[in-house]
Amino acid sequence: MIDVLLGLQWGDEGKGKIVDVLAPNYDIVARFQGGPNAGHTIIIEGKKQVLHLIPSGIFHPNCICIIGNGVVIDPIVLRREIEALEAGGIEVRSRLMISQRAHIILPSHKLLDAASEKEKGTAKIGSTLRGIGPTYMDKTGRNGFRVGDLLSANFEERYRLLVTKHERLLGLYAFEYNLSEGEGDFFDALDFMRTMPIINSEQYLNDAIIAGKKILAEGAQGTLLDIDLGTYPFVTSSNTTTAGACTGLGISPRHIAKVYGIFKAYCTRVGSGPFPTELENEVGETIRKEGKEYGATTGRNRRVGWLDIPLLKYTVSINGVTDLVMTKADVLSIMNEIEYCDTYDLHGESLQTCPFDLDDADLKPQYKKMPSWGEISDITDLAQIPKTLRNYMDMIEKTVGVPITFLSVGPDRAQMLKL
Ligand code: GDP
Ligand code: IMO
Ligand code: MG
Repeated sequence: MIDVLLGLQWGDEGKGKIVDVLAPNYDIVARFQGGPNAGHTIIIEGKKQVLHLIPSGIFHPNCICIIGNGVVIDPIVLRREIEALEAGGIEVRSRLMISQRAHIILPSHKLLDAASEKEKGTAKIGSTLRGIGPTYMDKTGRNGFRVGDLLSANFEERYRLLVTKHERLLGLYAFEYNLSEGEGDFFDALDFMRTMPIINSEQYLNDAIIAGKKILAEGAQGTLLDIDLGTYPFVTSSNTTTAGACTGLGISPRHIAKVYGIFKAYCTRVGSGPFPTELENEVGETIRKEGKEYGATTGRNRRVGWLDIPLLKYTVSINGVTDLVMTKADVLSIMNEIEYCDTYDLHGESLQTCPFDLDDADLKPQYKKMPSWGEISDITDLAQIPKTLRNYMDMIEKTVGVPITFLSVGPDRAQMLKL
C-alpha cells in the first residue's frame, strides 16, 4: 500500500513538516520527482533542518528512505546533505537508497539553466538555478546520465561527449562561464555516490508492497508547478501530481490508497508567473513577515496572496486528494479579517476552475471576507479551535468536497492536530 503526499499550490506548503509527522506510520518514505530545487523544512525541538534531496522521513530511525527514478540528483548537494545530517548524529547511509534510474545533474546543466534564464530577461521563469530544466530536457531528449551509469566503464568518455554538446549550446548564449571550476567537486561527489546503495527501486518498492509494507510517496514543488497541468510555462520540469508518483517510483495507481493534499491557509509563490490573488501591498508584506515567507532553497521573498478556492478545487480534483492538510492558519491570527477568492469572473461569467490563461487581464477574482481568529499556535485539542477558524475550514471542506484531516498550527513537529 502506498500513500501519496503532495503540495496543492505553488510549493512550500509545508510538505516536509507533514511528512516528518506522518513518517512513524510508514516503513518507507520515497521522493518521486524534482531535485534540489526543493527545500523541505523540518523543525524538531526548535532545531531547523532543510532537506533538498533526502526524503523527509530521515529523522525517524526505523524509516527507509528512497530517492526514486523520477528524481534528478545533484551529487554535490546529495553528498553535502548526507554529511551534514551524519555530523548531526543522524544515521543516513544505511537507510538511504538511490534508484539506478534517477538522472544526474551535471555542472553544465546548472550553467545551461543560468544561461537560459539570463537570456529570458524579464520573462524568466525564476528558476532556482539548480539545473533542473536542462537535466529533465536531457532525460526526455534521451541524452541523460542515470545513477546506474556511474558504474559503467565508459562513464567518463560519455560524460565528455555530453559536456561537449552542452558547451556548443552554451556558445549560443551571451554567457560567460567556467566549467572546470565545478568539476572537481562533482567528480569527488560521484565517487562518494558510488559507495551508496544504488538499487532497482521500482522492484524494491513493489516487493515491499507485496510484503505488506507501508510506503509514503513524498512530492516536491506543488501541483500548480506541474509541467503538464501547472501555470505553464512558469512551472518546473516534472510531474508534481499523483500521476508523477506512479512514473517516478514505478508503482501502479492500483496500489495508491490515500492522497494527502497539503495547502497553506493562504497562498505563496516564489519566482515568476501568474498569481491571481497576489497581495502586492502592506497586507501581503505583513503576512510574508509573520509567515517567514522566504525561500528555503534560495532565500528569495515569497510572493503572498489570499487562498484561491477555484485553484484549490482544480488541484484537489486532478490529484484525487482524499485528505486535506491545512498549514499556517496560525500566521493569519495577526489579521482582524481575512479574504479568500471564492470564484473568478471572466467576461461576466462565473468560473470555478483553472482557466487556460490565468494572466488574462479580464480574469477577476471574486473575494469573500471573514473574521480571523486569535492565537492558535499553542492549541492541542480540537475543542480549542476557534469558531471563526472552524467556519473557514468548513467553507473549504464544503466547496472543495474533501475533509481536512490534519491542521498544522506552527512549524514544529509537535504543532499538529488530527481531526
Ligand atoms: P515545503 O517545501 O512544502 O516542505 O515547505 P517549506 O519548508 O519550503 O516551507 C514551509 C515553511 O513553513 C517552513 O519554514 C516550515 O517550517 C513552516 N511551516 C510548516 N507548517 C507550518 C505551520 O503550520 N505554521 C507555521 N507558522 N509555519 C509552518
Ligand atoms: P518545494 O519542494 C517553491 C519554482 C521556482 C520557479 C519554478 C521553476 O520546496 O515546495 P526550477 O528550479 O524547478 O526550474 O524552478 O518553480 N520552484 C519552487 N517553488 N517550492 C519549490 O519546491 C520549488 N521548486 C521550484 O521558484 O518559479
Ligand atoms: Mg520548500
